[in-house]
Amino acid sequence: MYNVREVEKDIWWLGASDRRLELFENVYPLPLGMSYNNYVIMDDKTCLMDGIDDAVTRQFMDNLEHVLGGRKLDYMVVQHMEPDHCTCIPQLISKYPEMKIVASQKAVQMISQFYHLQVDAIAVKEGDTLELGHHTLTFCTAPMVHWPEVIVSYETTTGTLFSADAFGAFGAMSGNIFADEVDWDRDWESEARRYYVNIVGKYGVQTAALLKKAAALDIKMILPLHGHLWRQDFGKILDLYTKWASYTPEKKAVAVFYGSVYGNTANAADILAMMLSELGVKDVKVYDVSKTHPSYLLAEAFRCSTLVFASATYNAEIFDSMHTLLVDAKNHNLSGRTVGLIENGSWAATAGKKMAEILGSMKSMTILDPMVKVTSSVDDDTRGKLQELAQALAETVK
Ligand code: FEO
Repeated sequence: MYNVREVEKDIWWLGASDRRLELFENVYPLPLGMSYNNYVIMDDKTCLMDGIDDAVTRQFMDNLEHVLGGRKLDYMVVQHMEPDHCTCIPQLISKYPEMKIVASQKAVQMISQFYHLQVDAIAVKEGDTLELGHHTLTFCTAPMVHWPEVIVSYETTTGTLFSADAFGAFGAMSGNIFADEVDWDRDWESEARRYYVNIVGKYGVQTAALLKKAAALDIKMILPLHGHLWRQDFGKILDLYTKWASYTPEKKAVAVFYGSVYGNTANAADILAMMLSELGVKDVKVYDVSKTHPSYLLAEAFRCSTLVFASATYNAEIFDSMHTLLVDAKNHNLSGRTVGLIENGSWAATAGKKMAEILGSMKSMTILDPMVKVTSSVDDDTRGKLQELAQALAETVK
């Protein structure tokens, strides 16, 4: 049975949520599920904006059939060819054979790569338009937000920006599909951050370019492919995106990440956190990198100005889960953070040097003195060094 909502006169939301999927892209945990949005514009011509994930295709097909009400589907705009929006394309072509696909040239090529289909397609580029009757779509390229073929579409009559993956979030929705219908700051901001940082975070330059294009538009509504729809308070999400795209920390805050085998490196991290608190640092959080999934840790690293990495030496290397976090941070182009380092080793400690090497290969990372060396477990000398590091870290968040 259909489950749709008219979000603006003649623009319908046809999305659905999946609460069973464990890992988005088979990588990112989804404790709150995942939502997939798409839309139909009903005008002289009918136009579907994107498809949907396999898991919810049945719901989507019911929704589409209902909204079309027996009319044919004239166009499908494919803004993004990632399969979470496109596995339904063969089924759509079979059900609506007159449908023309509108997409970038790269997306058209990807349709044949993924589905081995030669489709009836109109390839569009920056500034091209599609007239539907009362509505007109203008297409803007948004390469690498999140794949190279991405376009976003601006509907001029209603001021609607169909933003593809941009402004999305992890998490299933519960009928309240507009951001102003939920306590977005309390319940959704962290999953929007984790989504952006992990999915698009590497491509800050490209995201900033899209934000620049968006700033020139008179936007009345933002309709992304995941997460809540925006029809007010655009400043909130645009401000967050401006910070994330430029790798600017949201807060003067300290995140302490530790990788500990038997608890002694964890002890050093906890002592440091206590010292920071005593020095008046209010926003300090400690994370066990073996316990918390790296996608959450990376999101926290984007949020905070100051990061501490405390790692045991393991196989003459950085502790495995800490290594994963550091490489993830580097691969996502994290930059401009102040960093404290703690290493532990019982005979040949190498973790500190190797962590410094990775951080040194990243842009504008400032490593504070001293690097604290723990030999098996914290002693009085080490406590003194931790106090020195705490002083230096506290200075950065005043
Ligand atoms: Fe929601 Fe990049 O796909």
